[in-house]
Amino acid sequence: MSSPLIDADPRTVYLVDYQPYPFVLDQVHLTFRLAPRATRVLARLSFAPNPLRPGRHDLRLNGEKLTLISALVDGRKVVPAVDPEGLTIAAGDLPPGGFVLETEVEISPETNTALEGLYMSKGMYCTQCEAEGFRKITYYPDRPDVMARFFVRLEGAMPVLLSNGNMVAQGEGWAEWDDPWPKPAYLFALVAGDLVAHPDRFTTKSGREVALNIWVRPGDETRCAWGMQALKASMTWDEDVYGREYDLDIFNIVAVDDFNMGAMENKGLNIFNSKVVLASPDTATDDDFARIEAIIAHEYFHNWTGNRITCRDWFQLCLKEGLTVFRDQQFSGDMRSHAVKRIEDVLMLRARQFREDQGPLAHAVRPESFVEINNFYTATIYEKGAEIIGMLKRLVGDADYARALDLYFTRHDGQAATIEDWLKVFEDVTGRDLTQFKRWYSQAGTPRLGVHEAWAAGVGGGTYTLTFTQTNPPTPGQPDKEAKVIPIAVGLLNPNGDEVVPTTVLEMNKPVQSFQFTGLSARPIPSILRGFSAPVILERDVPQSERAFLLAHDTDPFNRWEAGRALAKDTLARMVTKGAEPAADLLEGMARLAFDDSVDPAFRALALRLPSDDDMAATLHSVGHVPDPLRIHAAKRDLGLALAKRLAAGLPQLEAACRTDGPFSPDAGPAGKRALRLAALSLLTRLDAGQAAKAAFAKASNMTESFGALSILLENGYGEEELATFGSRWAQDRLVMDKWFAVQVSMAAPDQAAATVDRLTRHPDFDMKNPNRFRAVLGALSANHAGFHHDSGAGYRVLADWLIRLDPLNPQTAARMSAAFETWPRYDADRQGMIRAALARILAAPGLSRDLSEMAGRMRGA
Ligand code: BES
Ligand code: ZN
Repeated sequence: MSSPLIDADPRTVYLVDYQPYPFVLDQVHLTFRLAPRATRVLARLSFAPNPLRPGRHDLRLNGEKLTLISALVDGRKVVPAVDPEGLTIAAGDLPPGGFVLETEVEISPETNTALEGLYMSKGMYCTQCEAEGFRKITYYPDRPDVMARFFVRLEGAMPVLLSNGNMVAQGEGWAEWDDPWPKPAYLFALVAGDLVAHPDRFTTKSGREVALNIWVRPGDETRCAWGMQALKASMTWDEDVYGREYDLDIFNIVAVDDFNMGAMENKGLNIFNSKVVLASPDTATDDDFARIEAIIAHEYFHNWTGNRITCRDWFQLCLKEGLTVFRDQQFSGDMRSHAVKRIEDVLMLRARQFREDQGPLAHAVRPESFVEINNFYTATIYEKGAEIIGMLKRLVGDADYARALDLYFTRHDGQAATIEDWLKVFEDVTGRDLTQFKRWYSQAGTPRLGVHEAWAAGVGGGTYTLTFTQTNPPTPGQPDKEAKVIPIAVGLLNPNGDEVVPTTVLEMNKPVQSFQFTGLSARPIPSILRGFSAPVILERDVPQSERAFLLAHDTDPFNRWEAGRALAKDTLARMVTKGAEPAADLLEGMARLAFDDSVDPAFRALALRLPSDDDMAATLHSVGHVPDPLRIHAAKRDLGLALAKRLAAGLPQLEAACRTDGPFSPDAGPAGKRALRLAALSLLTRLDAGQAAKAAFAKASNMTESFGALSILLENGYGEEELATFGSRWAQDRLVMDKWFAVQVSMAAPDQAAATVDRLTRHPDFDMKNPNRFRAVLGALSANHAGFHHDSGAGYRVLADWLIRLDPLNPQTAARMSAAFETWPRYDADRQGMIRAALARILAAPGLSRDLSEMAGRMRGA
């Protein structure tokens, strides 16, 4: 994407074209007269010339799907030139200095199924403006570098009327809100509805009293406690760790059922998909609780990294998202277990970001062009963006990282900043030159790291040399790459398992580079890339025995887990390609770990989890095989059975020992025990025809156990009865029913997956307008690897059908979900042909959205 493609979409936006907006906008005054199909929005915008853009300029405002009622400049009627994307008032029609523009528009929230701009969800008004949704509310310079103070008046017959900032006045049917902090329009929000609050308070470090509320629809009040405690924990953590205090008198969170994403950091008024804020022990799993804690933290942390310091333009998206993900990962590690959190984050990075980086959608963490910005809220921007910050921190050390962050907050507070600004604070604090490091932002693709070892015995100790070779593979639009700076954390172990060289960060910055360790008494066993110190693929042919040794002895928990994972992948690859038997080393290592009570149960549960089918497909493809989804599926079943047999003697005892009795606590300790118990139950179910899992389901006292047991039963072809029990018990609960829909598709046998989707989409409770429900069914299909890629092609067809159907209603969600097709180059000619046919069919759909056409085009290789 560094060079514009020959036949680039005419709507393409380029980073190099950036220019400041010709006007500054200090005050915005908005009035909303709410009505489902005819909301009036009155905007009063005070513009002044921007000294950064001398001369006279036309006033160009964004605006989409708006009916313009009137426009006045300094009180005099004007007739702007209106087009489908905005309006223009010619420079000659504007007074030379500052002026006030007043507009009135009409919009229809009730018919807004795209869930962008102002829309309605279950009778409640709400907004989603990031990235470019504000232009569907009123005519405005809808870009993040235009920051203004907002005063908002809401008029509507709703009991609760919320917007950003502090409430300054209210009466029957109206409320006024003033946000003292200048902000871009994407952080604007309003909510109006019949809502109830779960209230609390927080006193900041400097003594500011903050009123906290989680607003929900009546009936959901009982599911707010966990989110509230996560919010307070986040506020404390940001004060303690980053020195960041909250800056308003009120912080509101609202739960909405219809939401395209997880949650949104609107200033003082975060809006959440109800799925990622509402939780109670009987309706949410441990994973849900952990996710809620992380997302509450993430959106709260944006108050500084995103809101007080925002992005100059959307190419800088990782400036706020990568940093905020990094911060929420640190927070979750502090709240729970750093080792477990790191493993989970790397699993996710590999599953989503490495996958993206190796396919047709690969793009830089800071892209240089886009057609639809919503398509760039990707694993690369988020997860790789966070990894880059982790690498920076490792390279400069914790103390300089803290100093650089302090400088960032003081230097750029109130600004719309860039990646250059971000790197400059690190350069200024450390005196380092980060020019080469910056390639991580501009070059797409996952580097591969080869390793060569040499040992030379000698008097007074031997010398061990590690020689690394990095290769940076080509990606779409970027054929040539240069060497990156790669922090490689290494430790060395003695053959008896003692650590002889503790973790050391080697700083690689050349294509090939050697590092020596001297004075060693024996040839060491290396533990390389500890803590996953860089987002690279380590290519190293390691004997199984050495992996087994590290699985038993590595002092770095990440690499200990990684050794087991590598063993499992080696074994599975051999089973798939050579029909081999499961390796004894693996089964022995797993058995030792599974029953080692000195090890954290959560860690053991992770170690027992086999690599995903998709991961195996990627791994096989990368070593030159064409992955066969059905064989991968079968090999995993075989390995699971072998593991179950090897652990059989201890499983019932392990399952019993991990029961958590007493009142439910979602904390990491009990959650880890439940995870290990379910891992044991899953293996046990391979041997006992579902007896133990059925009993666990019957006795379950929380959703983790109940849904865990149900999933295990369905995965093994049992559980029809339990599925029915679960479905009737929760028929009225939309969040739990999403699980009921999803589990049937994700656990369907490969030849049943598409048919299950077909059946469930005819269910009276299937609602394609609700993104959670749509994702529960269609998202679960693409997550069922062998089902989605079944050789009949039915998986591809049913997904394409539904994306084509969803696109006119909700292009953003349709486009995101289309990435299920991004892995097509891995597979055989038949599957490639069928996926390309599905993409062609999507591209031929009449009136296709910009969102989905960009995605399908990029995947097809336009
Ligand atoms: N700013 C985003 C929400 C967003 C995403 C708005 C895409 C517009 C388009 C928010 O901070 C976010 O990143 N949410 C994530 C969850 C987070 C924990 C990574 C989400 O919604 O998935
Ligand atoms: Zn975010």
